[in-house]
Amino acid sequence: MMEAIYQPISIACVLPDIFPQVALFTEARGKHVLYKDETRPFTEADRVRLLSNKTCTMYVRSGDFEAVSNFAEEHLAEILDRDDVDQEAKNQALVHTSENYLKDIFSDPEKSQDAERCKKLTGHLAKYISETHSVSKLFQTLGGSSTFAIKHSMQVASLSMLAWSKLFPERPDDLVDIGVAGMLHDIGMSLILSTAADDQDYWTIPSADEIRRHPFEGYIFLRRNGQYNDLILDAVRHHHERFFGGGYPGGLKGDEISLPTQVIGLADMYCTLITDRPTRKASTQEEAFKIIGDDSHKCFSTLLFTAFQMVIKE
Ligand SMILES: [Fe+2]
Ligand SMILES: [Fe+2]
Repeated sequence: MMEAIYQPISIACVLPDIFPQVALFTEARGKHVLYKDETRPFTEADRVRLLSNKTCTMYVRSGDFEAVSNFAEEHLAEILDRDDVDQEAKNQALVHTSENYLKDIFSDPEKSQDAERCKKLTGHLAKYISETHSVSKLFQTLGGSSTFAIKHSMQVASLSMLAWSKLFPERPDDLVDIGVAGMLHDIGMSLILSTAADDQDYWTIPSADEIRRHPFEGYIFLRRNGQYNDLILDAVRHHHERFFGGGYPGGLKGDEISLPTQVIGLADMYCTLITDRPTRKASTQEEAFKIIGDDSHKCFSTLLFTAFQMVIKE
């Protein structure tokens, strides 16, 4: 018999009485041990017992993971409000739920048409960033098991929001939209490449000409349902424009590129550089700054880039 495969879930997601009736496992010495089977509900007594044992991660069978992820997404506000679990467990719940959303939309781009789902999730992320003023824990929690598209989209969304909240505090109402744009900025890649959700580096697979279509394809696709506003659509369309020209698809320059789009474009390049890819080892923070700031391919306004470096170094 093939060994069952398990998926980790945060203890924060396991809400007594309403948690889906699935088998739950703990891990001990590298083995998964059945904690409760699917016939028994998860109770308040279970919650107390697990928390007193300082359990942070539980496991479910892979076949149950979708139901559990949907449950976590639906109850995310309640999960993040819990005061009986620590911040790490809540971070895990937030990151896993976001990863699951991104996996969903990159595997089936039609799902990205559900704007309310994306806004709700990004709203939780925005609240987290406004309270913690940091993305380092989120970046650490983003698992090695995440593929490039998922990890990258989540990084760009959270880093763009952090930069925006610090650099433009007078525009807090745009924060969620910045996050939504970050989450969706490369959705066009999933329209060009059916394996975008699973590839470890989607940049190397299609030809350069094909890749250059992704901002416009993504923009046209998201515009279809009329639920995404101009800030979001503009950022998806123009995140590869460059302040001194030479970008695509419009070859825009300077102030022709909106501020949110400039911030997302900068976070996009930085996050791509600091990620390990099959073709290129991840740059350190300092190396990434050096590459972005190099005069030979100057891409961003000096003012914005200087402020962005300060945000990251804080
Ligand atoms: Fe892109
Ligand atoms: Fe990107």
